[in-house]
Amino acid sequence: MENQERETPLRPRRLLLFPIPLQGHINPMLHLANILHSTGAFSSITIIHTHLNSPNTTNHPHFTFLPISDGLSETEASMGDVIELLAVLNKTCAGPFRDCLEELLVGEGVACLITDALWHFSQAVADGFGLPRIVLRTSSVASFVAFSAFPLLREKGLLPKQDSQLEEPVLELPPLKVKDLPTVTTRNSENFYNLVAAMVKETKSSAGLIWNSFEDLEQSPLTKFREEFPIPNFSIGPFHKYFSASSTSLLAHDTSSIPWLDTQPPKSVLYVSFGSIAEMGGNEFQEMAWGLADSLQPFLWVVRPGLVRGSKWLEILPTGFMEAIHGRGHIVKWAPQQEVLAHRATGGFWTHNGWNSTLESICEGVPMICYPCFGDQMGNARYVTDVWRIGIGFESGMERGMVVRTIRRLMVEREGEEMRERIMCLKEKAGVCQQEGGSSHHYLESLITYILSF
Ligand code: UDX
Repeated sequence: MENQERETPLRPRRLLLFPIPLQGHINPMLHLANILHSTGAFSSITIIHTHLNSPNTTNHPHFTFLPISDGLSETEASMGDVIELLAVLNKTCAGPFRDCLEELLVGEGVACLITDALWHFSQAVADGFGLPRIVLRTSSVASFVAFSAFPLLREKGLLPKQDSQLEEPVLELPPLKVKDLPTVTTRNSENFYNLVAAMVKETKSSAGLIWNSFEDLEQSPLTKFREEFPIPNFSIGPFHKYFSASSTSLLAHDTSSIPWLDTQPPKSVLYVSFGSIAEMGGNEFQEMAWGLADSLQPFLWVVRPGLVRGSKWLEILPTGFMEAIHGRGHIVKWAPQQEVLAHRATGGFWTHNGWNSTLESICEGVPMICYPCFGDQMGNARYVTDVWRIGIGFESGMERGMVVRTIRRLMVEREGEEMRERIMCLKEKAGVCQQEGGSSHHYLESLITYILSF
């Protein structure tokens, strides 16, 4: 979008943004900040952030960054339980966030506050100051619709999930099966249900909602959402495609990935990454490793430190693995994912189906192998395999023979080729929606007009 100054001298035009401090949430919030900045409609953008996972401010000299205390002890900050972490943060950040807003509101007028949907406490704080709060939902529309159906699903006995019901369809949320409903393993599952309930309730009370999705991709969930939630909402995604380069990573990208891809034949490489949070067991990892080796397909594998429970990094690789792959694979701790997906050598993506990864794969026309781990990922994977038909799910757990068959179906067989053709159509739609006359372009214009009307 071009940088055009708009004539709205009497309106407050400063924006405040507050991301959840997790990679999959920071990326879309900073992309959104860049999109809004590029419109030229706002005088300044301030990013309020926690000390935990604070963003790399040097990559964004055009924003003001304001750290607030998250009050976390070292143990709390490093806890593996993401639901407990979010529950604690929603309490500990309330005071510091209120103080921070109080100071900010003294100066230049603030148009509105944009916070992640998971910062549910921020609605009451914004209300206290009479400040409009717009919610950013960083995951799919379908997952939000599923979360909003939780009270009904619990009443019907579909949640918590029972083993005997896993394959049953959820009639209210086609095409989801019970096993696809978003759940997260946590010490106390009530914390999870409370977090979801608070997120949905405070989103309903907000002044509006921004989606990192687009109309052609999620038409049916968007229609359902709009029937149930009478708040202004703006599907302006995919965010990361407004700009060519991404500089929102918390971890350093391994610079060897692209030169290694340069040496590989077109569409031959399977890129493998499970995002920033997912974990797996040692046995699961070893089956995965042997499956990759036996597939005889080149692969670029992100093994994030912490991916394998109880292991530091590659010491868990099975003996003889490196010899078995004969240089056909390249392993890194963290890759420049968007560049990798856009590379001519990349032909498939074995993903956990985090929403950012799913969107990034669609935008580069790379079909997927789906291995969802938790939360929204199971539902995202269901849309990939059954609705858009651009990926293959696992028919059973991680077992080396199954891994080999699945990789070959995607990378070598006609089935994978057909998925590649279908995802290229979606890629095109993702591009068209951001151009003049496209749906995301239209919603972005409406969003700016809406914010400037406050
Ligand atoms: C989390 C949840 O797991 C996900 O389901 C939810 O939709 C968002 O929050 P995460 O698990 O990190 O996110 O997955 P994902 O949403 O895919 O985000 C990962 C981001 O990290 C992507 O933008 C991806 O490009 C980036 N990434 C990943 C890298 O830059 N390098 C890597 O090696 C791997």
